[in-house]
Amino acid sequence: MEPKYKRVIIKLSGEALAGPDGHGINTSTVLTICEQIKEVFELGVEIAIVVGGGNFWRGRSGEGMDKSTADYMGMLATVINALGLQDVLEELGVPVRVQTAIEMKQIAEPYIRRKAIRHLEKRRIVIFASGIGSPFFTTDTTAALRAAEIDAEIILLAKSIDAVYDSDPLTNPEAKRYSELTYIDVLNQGLKVMDSTATSLCMDNHIPILVFGLNEPKNILRAIMGEKIGTIIQE
Ligand code: GTP
Repeated sequence: MEPKYKRVIIKLSGEALAGPDGHGINTSTVLTICEQIKEVFELGVEIAIVVGGGNFWRGRSGEGMDKSTADYMGMLATVINALGLQDVLEELGVPVRVQTAIEMKQIAEPYIRRKAIRHLEKRRIVIFASGIGSPFFTTDTTAALRAAEIDAEIILLAKSIDAVYDSDPLTNPEAKRYSELTYIDVLNQGLKVMDSTATSLCMDNHIPILVFGLNEPKNILRAIMGEKIGTIIQE
């Protein structure tokens, strides 16, 4: 079986790296995620990763704080996560390059679109850190923007929940689970899958989003093979 996609963006939330700890980086959780990514990488898929920072800091953690400052702190958190992922992937023998949207040359390469694409062509995973480098934009928006820039075929939005629901299934047992949605559904119903900026960017650039849970160990592979898991959001 061939992978369905040649080039993808995997969006990992910061919380995904925290695992059962709920905060920071859980080594065995990150290892499990990286082993899955390696498996897919070895099928020949070109993979770029956008990572969030919520396991260290969320914009809203800085309530009462200047919003831009809180967002810049969040961007720094994504850099910590990117370096952590890089380390584990390299330990597994996967070549990785981290690029940051905010220049910090001593730590990682700056984001350069053409170089990122070249890295992918040379069979390296590229991790995009520090969001898009501007406050008021989320790492979901980063995933959408980078996907458009590098011509990724799909965004694999790995979550702690297995699909999109109309309300929180943890608190509402009647919550309706969706297997397919349009961008307009997400926007009109205010579904909390991605923020509206990220959703509209995907809509305008015809980039499908597959939302799925990281709880099942083979889900990244299943997503890449085109299996019907989670919720697909497209036109
Ligand atoms: P090519 O040789 O162009 O195929 O790519 P390469 O990434 O192997 O070569 P390069 O010489 O650009 O990078 C070598 C190593 O240095 C890689 O691990 C890069 O991630 C890293 N690197 C490149 N540029 C920078 C930078 O500006 N800052 C930091 N910290 N590392 C960098």
